[in-house]
Amino acid sequence: MIYEKKNKIYLIGFMGSGKSTLGKKLARLLHYDFSDLDQYIESTAADSISNIFDLHGEEYFRKLESKCLNDFNNETYKVIATGGGTPCFHENMNLMLSQGCCVYIRMPEGALLERLRKAAPKRPLLAGKDEAELRTYIHDTLQAREETYLKSHLVIDGVSLSMPSLAQILKSKMMERTH
Ligand code: S3P
Repeated sequence: MIYEKKNKIYLIGFMGSGKSTLGKKLARLLHYDFSDLDQYIESTAADSISNIFDLHGEEYFRKLESKCLNDFNNETYKVIATGGGTPCFHENMNLMLSQGCCVYIRMPEGALLERLRKAAPKRPLLAGKDEAELRTYIHDTLQAREETYLKSHLVIDGVSLSMPSLAQILKSKMMERTH
């Protein structure tokens, strides 16, 4: 497998699937560094994701997101939590598949709805949606995106996920950090 030679892990999944929280834990267990793509975009743009969407629109955001994703190409020993839309725009999924191990944290729609209810106002694509609109958005967007997410090297059930066993699986596949 190509990704076994690359010591980089991309966490992939819908908004609210826990990529950042899991990514930090996973990085600690593997002794890898951790980066959150959304945070990196915000520091690069010196602005929040919400403001970038408001001021420049989604197309601009997707270009910036792709550029920022490419900034990690030469990095090693890194766990990267991507944004929910990252794999589905430009050539990002193919890039990640060639650059490292892609892990899809899969979550059922109901669990995503539970988790996103509170967090919706902070997310530009969800802000202002009522319960029914949020449910419909999650359903439709997951349907559209999942085909891409499922190209990942590993698909993990986000509900029953055991972090030590995920770390173990990845340890057996990735290069150990020696420095
Ligand atoms: C988005 C997900 C967000 C962020 C942006 C767009 C999406 O990231 O990149 O709001 O298109 O699903 P999280 O998945 O980390 O919330």
